[in-house]
Amino acid sequence: MSSQPKLKLLFNREEIGATVSRLADEISQDYRSQHPLLIGVLKGSFVFMADLIRLLDFPLEVEFIRLSSYGRGRESSGKVKVVQGLRSPVKGRDVLIIEDIVDTGLTTVFLLDYLRRKKPASLKLCSLTDKPSRRQIPVTIDYLGFTVPNKFIVGYGIDWDEKFRYLPDIGYVEVED
Ligand code: IMP
Repeated sequence: MSSQPKLKLLFNREEIGATVSRLADEISQDYRSQHPLLIGVLKGSFVFMADLIRLLDFPLEVEFIRLSSYGRGRESSGKVKVVQGLRSPVKGRDVLIIEDIVDTGLTTVFLLDYLRRKKPASLKLCSLTDKPSRRQIPVTIDYLGFTVPNKFIVGYGIDWDEKFRYLPDIGYVEVED
């Protein structure tokens, strides 16, 4: 018989809402006068990004980048590439990356290096979640939502093989045989 994933709740929509507001306050304090460029990492950050920017009441621009490191499975291949690039220039901009999750750190470090080479005025990272137990390479997260356990996280934009992105809460997948 094939294994069935079971979902366990980690953070409900109220907790997520409160955390996104807290992050919006922190980001507002630092970026209010800077007209920043927010770069969302597709696809996992799109729900978070949509909620976050609606709490930022100052001028900003939005971009997206799509990277691939995971195939359709649950393990990172470790090899990261840009599969959908940026349209807006980054040079001289105050850039804030919006990530869904920092896991091994390989994707984020690749992206930080990639953007740094484009000479932004400043470059910082906001991640909704952090799974530090899996880190292979150090990453500084300037604005962090939740620290999560070593589980496969889904919901609120985050997927498991393209499933569960639509869930309004954040949970984790438990595979049972
Ligand atoms: P990293 O390169 O290992 O840090 O992985 C970064 C990317 O892997 C994230 O942006 C996600 O797309 C994906 N990822 C890592 N852990 C999870 C998880 O628990 N749930 C869903 N996606 C994950």
